[in-house]
Amino acid sequence: MDGLMAERKYLSSKYFYDKRGSEIFQVIMRMPEYYLTDCELEIFEKQKQEIYAAFSQNSSAFELVELGAGDGLKTKILLSYFLAKNNDFEYAPIDISETAVHQLLNDLEKEFPSLKTRALIGDYFHLLEELNHQNIPKVIMFLGSNIGNFSWDEAVSFLSELRRQMKENDLLFIGFDLKKDSRIILNAYSDPHGHTAAFNLNLLQRMNRELEADFNLSNFKHLETYDEDNGATKSFLISQQKQKVYFSKFEEEISFEKGEGIFMEISQKYDEQMIQGLASAAGFEVKKNFYDSRRYYLNSLWEL
Ligand code: AVJ
Repeated sequence: MDGLMAERKYLSSKYFYDKRGSEIFQVIMRMPEYYLTDCELEIFEKQKQEIYAAFSQNSSAFELVELGAGDGLKTKILLSYFLAKNNDFEYAPIDISETAVHQLLNDLEKEFPSLKTRALIGDYFHLLEELNHQNIPKVIMFLGSNIGNFSWDEAVSFLSELRRQMKENDLLFIGFDLKKDSRIILNAYSDPHGHTAAFNLNLLQRMNRELEADFNLSNFKHLETYDEDNGATKSFLISQQKQKVYFSKFEEEISFEKGEGIFMEISQKYDEQMIQGLASAAGFEVKKNFYDSRRYYLNSLWEL
């Protein structure tokens, strides 16, 4: 409600992921226009050997922690290779979705019966503290350009807090989507199938259901913008007419002008200089960058 009553209306993208929203996101991840998945898969497929060498450099025994593990689609490539090399490592997926974690564990048990797992459900920082009781080094993974959902300042404080929780030999492995031709980005985020539009509109539906609102979904249109200069990729829902939406649950009415937007999500795109800047601002050293063949995306390995 704070966001909808603000001068410039906004909603937080963290609310996208109810059951339906998570399903739509799975569809988005698998559509060919959403190149991010293919890029990260390619990096893992082609460079798993170098990735393993870098992860195990400090110690052959390590805890592989994944923040926001989801369905583990990409991580399985690494797990399979790492397992063949060594079974001294443990996989600790962390996710706020209990169903996602349970499904992932079920899956892993079938596919990799010898893999040691320690799944954790809940918020990242609490759980990292828990993992710190163990003495083996951690490699923390934050994949899929999930970092892009933070503003610059939010990213710096998130990463600084993460760093505070890390110990000497721990590593951080982050996926960053890179700046590129706007047509490629807009085709991924304003896709011809309408999945991204449905993903955004689903949040209005969710508010109708959970907050007893009366949004008419056909009165809003999805708009995606990309700023080639600063890399900001933003998602909006634009009101197609002057209208009012009533929230019975709060007895509050929200008015929209024709053409007025709700800012829904930022999916920040980076260049190497920004990544270096982000690492420094949060107190990290960039150890190595792994690129895909088209240089659309990179996974960056950081140390303290
Ligand atoms: C899950 C945050 C990485 O920003 O690319 C996909 C979410 N939004 N299509 C992204 C998303 C629209 C995605 N992240």
